[in-house]
Amino acid sequence: MATQTSRDNLTPLLIVALGLLLVVSMGSTIAEAKKKPKKLSFFMFIAVQNNSFLDNPKGQFTSVLSGEGPVTPQPFAFANLHTFDNPLSKVMSLADQADRVGRVQGWYGNCGQSTLTLCLAQTFAYNDSVYAGTLSLLGSGVASYPVKYAPIVGGTGDFAFCRGVAEQSRVFNAIVNSEENSWFHYNITLKY
Ligand SMILES: *[C@@H]1O[C@H](CO)[C@@H](O)[C@H](O)[C@H]1NC(C)=O
Ligand SMILES: *[C@@H]1O[C@H](CO)[C@@H](O)[C@H](O)[C@H]1NC(C)=O
Ligand SMILES: *[C@@H]1O[C@H](CO)[C@@H](O)[C@H](O)[C@H]1NC(C)=O
Repeated sequence: MATQTSRDNLTPLLIVALGLLLVVSMGSTIAEAKKKPKKLSFFMFIAVQNNSFLDNPKGQFTSVLSGEGPVTPQPFAFANLHTFDNPLSKVMSLADQADRVGRVQGWYGNCGQSTLTLCLAQTFAYNDSVYAGTLSLLGSGVASYPVKYAPIVGGTGDFAFCRGVAEQSRVFNAIVNSEENSWFHYNITLKY
């Protein structure tokens, strides 16, 4: 009898406990979903140092030639390697610091002997104040293609364990203060 009563008293408690567990696990699923972005879209600025005009007081470059083949010039600048540290922005402007979403650092190398092809190895340090972490891209693309695709091979922080595809297009190009300035648009699609 006594056992029966305590069991009856426990049943509502158990239901409440199970309910709480459900609410907590649903909550963490929602939080996890929020912390795993499936899409990112942003702009990258690059200014390549002008090697015919190194003593350029107005030059503000983000990319420099850091390697060349032993015999220059090679067709399609084969074997050239650039190191870069490019800012990322929500818009095609660096005027307002509030639009910045990070930087991308790495190398692009001229790796095509029959067409101008660039191999990329770069890591985005991304923070739009909702999502923060790094994403690493490794790929190769013909420079003249209007849209280039490259794999995202992994990430850290909110992008931990991601895989994906980056679409990249050059959307602006001009010589500014004797240096080549460009804006690229990136759309990145991610899975976890
Ligand atoms: C991302 O940026 C926000 C706003 O500037 C800052 O508070 C936060 O600490 C940054 N997060 C990381 C991981 O750097
Ligand atoms: C990114 O997506 C937008 C919207 O679909 C599109 O207008 C833009 O051309 C895309 N950019 C790239 C580089 O794929
Ligand atoms: C490099 O600088 C020289 C001298 O100002 C200029 O004539 C040339 O167009 C520049 N080249 C690039 C790619 O900016």
